[in-house]
Amino acid sequence: MSAHYEVKLRPLRAADLPRVVRLEQELFGSSAWTYGMLAEELGALGRWYVAAEPVRLYAAGPQELIGYAGLWFDGDVTQIMTIGVDPQYQHLGIGSVLLTALIDRSRQIGASAVLLEVRVDNDAALAMYGKFGFEQLGIRKRYYQPEDVDAYTMRLELTDDSATDDAPAAEIRDAAVPDEPGVA
Ligand SMILES: CC(C)(COP(=O)(O)OP(=O)(O)OC[C@H]1O[C@@H](n2cnc3c(N)ncnc32)[C@H](O)[C@@H]1OP(=O)(O)O)[C@@H](O)C(=O)NCCC(=O)NCCS
Repeated sequence: MSAHYEVKLRPLRAADLPRVVRLEQELFGSSAWTYGMLAEELGALGRWYVAAEPVRLYAAGPQELIGYAGLWFDGDVTQIMTIGVDPQYQHLGIGSVLLTALIDRSRQIGASAVLLEVRVDNDAALAMYGKFGFEQLGIRKRYYQPEDVDAYTMRLELTDDSATDDAPAAEIRDAAVPDEPGVA
């Protein structure tokens, strides 16, 4: 499978945060991260955040981002901190492009595994992580507040080089996201 919508990945920047705050509210409702939380995340140690911009050949200037994702590397494993796609552009392969970038980055920096938490009722995300080979580890009771919803913990081992071989091939430009100061 290839992405049905072409995107370009680039580092997420502080200037993107107002847009990300709007998307967070749309995607995560009452558990959305605030501007302050996002700003702290971007500047925190070991973090790596990417933005997905649409590729529109005749558009002038930078495009409004339609997806974002980030991880935290603690020196051993990476933890997916967030991943979100504008509802108008979901199920077009953009989430897979972002997740592929996070997994590739995890490999590059020598992580042994990728971990994440996901709401037990988040069918789309669960299906996506399953396609990429993530396995369910356990359950964190009432992890999401104030909604009071449980989370599954999931893990993708990176020691096996074939782990992402079955992952969707994403149509993507500028897939190598350059480092920027402050980005792990
Ligand atoms: C989860 C999310 C990031 C996926 O992004 P996306 O761009 O829609 O994902 P893709 O188009 O790459 O789809 C990858 C796979 O995810 C699953 N999927 C995506 N949307 C789905 C939907 N509406 N229903 C069921 N499965 C879905 C499918 O398995 C899909 O593979 P397929 O295209 O072969 O069917 C997106 O739905 C989203 O932003 N959700 C809200 C935020 C969120 O829940 N983030 C995850 C927090 S853990």
